[in-house]
Amino acid sequence: MNDARPAGGVLSGLPAAVTVVEVGPRDGLQNERVFVPTEAKIAFVDALAAAGLPVIEVTSFVRPDAIPQLRDAEDVMRGIARCAAVRYAALVPNERGLERARSCGVAEIALFTAASETFARHNINAGIEESLARFAPVIRRAHADGMRVRAYVSTAFGCPYEGRVAPAAVCAVMEKLLALGADEISIGDTIGVATPTQVAELCALLLRHADPARLALHFHDTRGTALANVLAGLLAGIAVFDASAGGLGGCPYAPGAAGNLATEDLLYMLHGMGIQTGVDLTAVVRATRLIAGYLDHPPTSKYYAAATS
Ligand code: HMG
Ligand code: MG
Repeated sequence: MNDARPAGGVLSGLPAAVTVVEVGPRDGLQNERVFVPTEAKIAFVDALAAAGLPVIEVTSFVRPDAIPQLRDAEDVMRGIARCAAVRYAALVPNERGLERARSCGVAEIALFTAASETFARHNINAGIEESLARFAPVIRRAHADGMRVRAYVSTAFGCPYEGRVAPAAVCAVMEKLLALGADEISIGDTIGVATPTQVAELCALLLRHADPARLALHFHDTRGTALANVLAGLLAGIAVFDASAGGLGGCPYAPGAAGNLATEDLLYMLHGMGIQTGVDLTAVVRATRLIAGYLDHPPTSKYYAAATS
């Protein structure tokens, strides 16, 4: 079994605690072919909250024809039980998205752009600079309303259209988002191509320009390197990681992006290393089991498979 040891041990410099940002209801479900009923989405979010996840990205307020699975965003947001200990966030692409989010009481928004121009155009129909210009008034208005603002930099390691992405390009976008006032930047390996040396190299550069408390890492496990990449991130000083219950996930505009890092696999590794998360792993498995009944494929999380076989 998994013997917990004090954080650090032979690996020095690890954080004692990590914040896990649960993106399953948004990144996990957005690519699912079969429409998941609104009530099931609500029950999934509530089960994740009950598991102790401190931040849950509930849905996204994008064009419903772009992401039909999440066309019930308002209903999901209004239907969930609000647990005081949980930050409920939602993906927002523009001012229209902010309006929609505000109409149903969202307290934290997540904007999204990319480090590669072609991906940005495919995903949000805007180049990087145009997306940043679009974000400026959204961030101002969100802050004026007391909302927290997170911002994703997608394709931080590789782009499905342009290939390898230079760390300097990621850093430039991160710095502009911070200058616009984003509270936290999540660095996304959208298509799951990163390796630990690349993570270490990129984090070293980013941390010369940003406070580690304002950085998060968002890995997709497409090629099986996500947990190794988390370890590289931890060693670099990052303590916020995005993950998706069951390993659900993918991005419709990133071919081959299937499979976010699974929350269960992340928790198993962190807890085994003596790193606190405040999340009940068994309860996350229950949440995944609940949503799995609505999908046309089994969840990819290795821990989930082991726990439910
Ligand atoms: P656009 O077509 O350029 O927008 O879409 P527009 O401003 O030109 O408006 C055109 C029409 O869309 C208008 O309607 C707007 O009202 C409507 P009309 O007047 O023609 O009837 N519209 C909206 N409707 C509802 N909600 C909105 C909204 N905005 C405009 N918010 C847009 C630009 C960004 C909106 C579009 O491209 C879009 O929705 N893209 C969604 C992309 C997406 O969700 N991708 C997946 C999430 S990103 C991801 O997964 C990566 C991440 O996980 C990190 C990682 O892994 O790296 C975050
Ligand atoms: Mg993602």
